[in-house]
Amino acid sequence: MEKAVFVALDLPSKQAVTDLLAKLGSPKQTYLKIGMELFYHVGANLVTELSQQGYQIFLDLKLHDIPNTVYHAAKQLAQLGIYCTTVHALGGSEMIAAARSGLAAGSPAGKPLPKLLAVTELTSISPAILKNEQNCVLPMQEQVISLAKMAKKAGADGVICSPLETAAIRQQLGSEFLCVTPGIRLKSNPQDDQKRVTTPQKACKLGASAIVVGRPITQAANPQDVYQTIKQEFN
Ligand code: C5P
Repeated sequence: MEKAVFVALDLPSKQAVTDLLAKLGSPKQTYLKIGMELFYHVGANLVTELSQQGYQIFLDLKLHDIPNTVYHAAKQLAQLGIYCTTVHALGGSEMIAAARSGLAAGSPAGKPLPKLLAVTELTSISPAILKNEQNCVLPMQEQVISLAKMAKKAGADGVICSPLETAAIRQQLGSEFLCVTPGIRLKSNPQDDQKRVTTPQKACKLGASAIVVGRPITQAANPQDVYQTIKQEFN
């Protein structure tokens, strides 16, 4: 994976996306993250359109269902020409392997296979929820590493993780396994609702393969300037 800065398009409409992209510059080498909100609102057409314009699309839909359903869903998503997508590791190894096969089956000929990233435990899951609601006997970090190992064995290319988990994951899973991390802020940015934030430079030092940045870019007076600064700091 390129050392990408994915711009999280957490925006309410296609018009808002068009306005932002006009400010970001050339689609070449521009990485965008589309999540559930925008996808459920504007549908798959926007993904195809942006991909055809040359943007690299991280379609973050966090699939989690029985393997057969995930296989067919992943096959459909691959046909949109995406760069990478996500599944919940908690769906199990069979489901992750099915997603991998679905992506391979749906990927347009001559295009690189979309990368498959697994979400281990959501960062909104506290140790108390892990213990009392998921009835997990492992401490959080061990659970995250255990899920990451299982996901890798099942065919995932990497995980979405907090920058603070990157070092441990890299150490246990090797430098080829991707760690994509949100929660990134420049020193001058507000933290918003993120609990633990890291600068692009620190994320790079900790070993992040790619970072996801939303509001610091989408809400900036000059998104292009902030995007360039973040890219320079991360690289
Ligand atoms: O605006 P901000 O930079 O906080 O956006 C971060 C993006 O990364 C959002 O799209 C958010 O949903 C996503 N994300 C996150 N934390 C996670 C997983 C995904 O912030 N643990």
